[in-house]
Amino acid sequence: MSSSIIGAAVTRIDGPLKVTGAARYAVDHPLENMVYGFAVSSSIAKGRIVNIDTSEAERMPGVLTIIHHGNADPLFRTAGPFEPNSRTSESRPPFEDDVVYYYGQFVALVVANSFEQAQDAAYHVKVRYQEEKPAVHLDDAAAPGPPVKNYSRGNAEQAFTSAPVKIDETYFTPVETHNPMEMHGTIAVWNGDKVTLYESSQGVVNHHGVMSEMLGVPLENVHVISPFVGSGFGCKLFPWPHSLLAAMAARRVKRPAKVSVPRNLMFTTVGHRPSTKQRVRLGAAQDGKLTAIIHEVQNPTSMIDNVMENCTEPTPILYSCENVSAVQRLVPLNIGTPTPMRGPGATPGIFALDSALDELAVKLNMDPLEIRLKNYAEKDESSGQPFSSKHLREAYQTGAERFGWSKRTPGVGSMRKGDLILGWGVGSATWPAHRGSAEVRVRLMADGRARAACATQDIGTGSYTIFAQVISDRTGIPVEKIDVALGDSSLPPGPTSGGSTATASFLPAVAGATDAAVDAVFQLAVKTEKSPFKGVDPKSLKMTGGRVHRMDQSPDSGTRFQDLLALRQLAALDGQVKTGGNPDAHNYSTHSFGTHFVEVSWDPGIARLRVTRAVSVLDAGRIMNQKTARNQILGAVVMGIGLAMFEETVYDSRNGKPVNNNFADYIVSTNADIPQLECIFLDHPDTVLGEYGARGIGEIGLTGVASALTMATYHATGIRVRELPIRLDKLMPSKVV
Ligand code: MOS
Repeated sequence: MSSSIIGAAVTRIDGPLKVTGAARYAVDHPLENMVYGFAVSSSIAKGRIVNIDTSEAERMPGVLTIIHHGNADPLFRTAGPFEPNSRTSESRPPFEDDVVYYYGQFVALVVANSFEQAQDAAYHVKVRYQEEKPAVHLDDAAAPGPPVKNYSRGNAEQAFTSAPVKIDETYFTPVETHNPMEMHGTIAVWNGDKVTLYESSQGVVNHHGVMSEMLGVPLENVHVISPFVGSGFGCKLFPWPHSLLAAMAARRVKRPAKVSVPRNLMFTTVGHRPSTKQRVRLGAAQDGKLTAIIHEVQNPTSMIDNVMENCTEPTPILYSCENVSAVQRLVPLNIGTPTPMRGPGATPGIFALDSALDELAVKLNMDPLEIRLKNYAEKDESSGQPFSSKHLREAYQTGAERFGWSKRTPGVGSMRKGDLILGWGVGSATWPAHRGSAEVRVRLMADGRARAACATQDIGTGSYTIFAQVISDRTGIPVEKIDVALGDSSLPPGPTSGGSTATASFLPAVAGATDAAVDAVFQLAVKTEKSPFKGVDPKSLKMTGGRVHRMDQSPDSGTRFQDLLALRQLAALDGQVKTGGNPDAHNYSTHSFGTHFVEVSWDPGIARLRVTRAVSVLDAGRIMNQKTARNQILGAVVMGIGLAMFEETVYDSRNGKPVNNNFADYIVSTNADIPQLECIFLDHPDTVLGEYGARGIGEIGLTGVASALTMATYHATGIRVRELPIRLDKLMPSKVV
């Protein structure tokens, strides 16, 4: 089934609520009698709390209680990998003991009648520490730990040693901090032994499971509500300590408690993309054919959790090569626990791998696009499986034509536009495509509307709208008459908005539930007196434009479904379906692919580097909604430009403080940095993933941008930046003036 609504640029159905301010985000919910929690956070990176003196703060106006490790209610740990829905971000419950592992760790929570009172009192809580020298940067740590991931095929070391052409370089990416517009925050309300949490969550079902486990409250007594999320980029995938503290505070004072995370603590207590150090060795024949890829990665983690930035995820599959080895190690540091950030792993990983490939192309005097085609992987060489659907060659060709790649002259500084020097770069993008389980209820209502319900959520990606499009596709009910309820743990369980898997996961369940609801109407139609279809074979019926009719007759001859419901005085008929993971998962390798072509301009007179053009071509399966999909890719490219040129969280070596923990000093791309971006979807359905053939598009747009940009920068300036971000001081010795 497929009407024109699938793939159309349908405007977000939740858009009016958002632009009029009617959409309620987590901490917007107005509850009576609210109290406010403000955290006291550690000013050291390593040591012990010797004493917490709350006496002055307790006497301040409006202060109700001050919670810390000496008086906190016990919390539990999650079962973690043993339970399907119990992944927390930081495994150590807050206030567990007197140990400080990182700067910014919550050491106390002041609870007061107003936010200002809580904040003021928090500054009067006196914490004495026994401070130890922390390890804040990679170089502060002793040797990295043992490998946490090891991949090998062929004999990469030997092939590298004997390769006629070699590249051996080390690349660095900085810590990046997720900075969604909506900061983290929770309102907790207890009603007897039941707790409701208003959250900003990318995974309502997981949040529900974790809170049940860590608070020690039965699942049925926990209710998580997260109808709107002001984006997350990964930092809202799994719960953080403030959510538990809101629940603890509310239970203690027997009033609703709001704990929000201010912008400065967004840099310490709710995750970040860890920095990476990546040595890449490539061996190749004179014609550019790769004979060896060796990719060695280190990333810092915290002292309390082991979080791997999976940089080597694309290494075995992106390019064809017989001998590949990849290893990842962790380096525990006194900083907060890292967490996935948009395109985790692949984004820094491809920066290193694709940069090295470009360095090889330069060495061989080859066109960077040609070397990618030379090493095109026809199948997944890590498993030997065919790709379910791969059109990367078409993506390169489409992008090259659109960008005008054939006009490129390879010499450094050889392309000019007036006084400006132009640089061109190209990169590959890839991201795995997976599908998990989902359960959806679709209800056809007596008032002629349809309603869908699922405990997945819309983090700004367009889930609400895609649900409505699918229901409309299968019933002909216009999207204006379709209501979608998401972001509530009391609804049928749905997927986390993570890993670019949500759409592929919920599509089959939305489709199945819609068909089941329609079928229920058909059953009613053939079994009800006065129905024009009484006694008809239900298999001969069809629903078009919301009307039930015989397949061999015009839809205009049909009866509106609500008129059939009325014959039995029914308020609604439901379909509810649960679907599982990808049934063909074992026969195919499922990945999305793409490419970015980037142009920079370099003005050596004033040392100004600007991105002036970018064309992205994505092979990401069937596109369900051109508007929301394009928005995902453009947003990701903006973040890719941020990674390449601006973003970096800088820590003070002495105490682990992120010194640029604010929007003035932590630089993200803004309008002036972004040229007209182009995004082209190849739109080939990947039916291995499901009937609609959609793969995820949330993350792939960020992979491959940074290396295309450093490549373009090299082409313009002759400077190879291997340590992001590209700052102007790194371009000062430019060979092109
Ligand atoms: Mo994405 S980093 O899985 O939100």
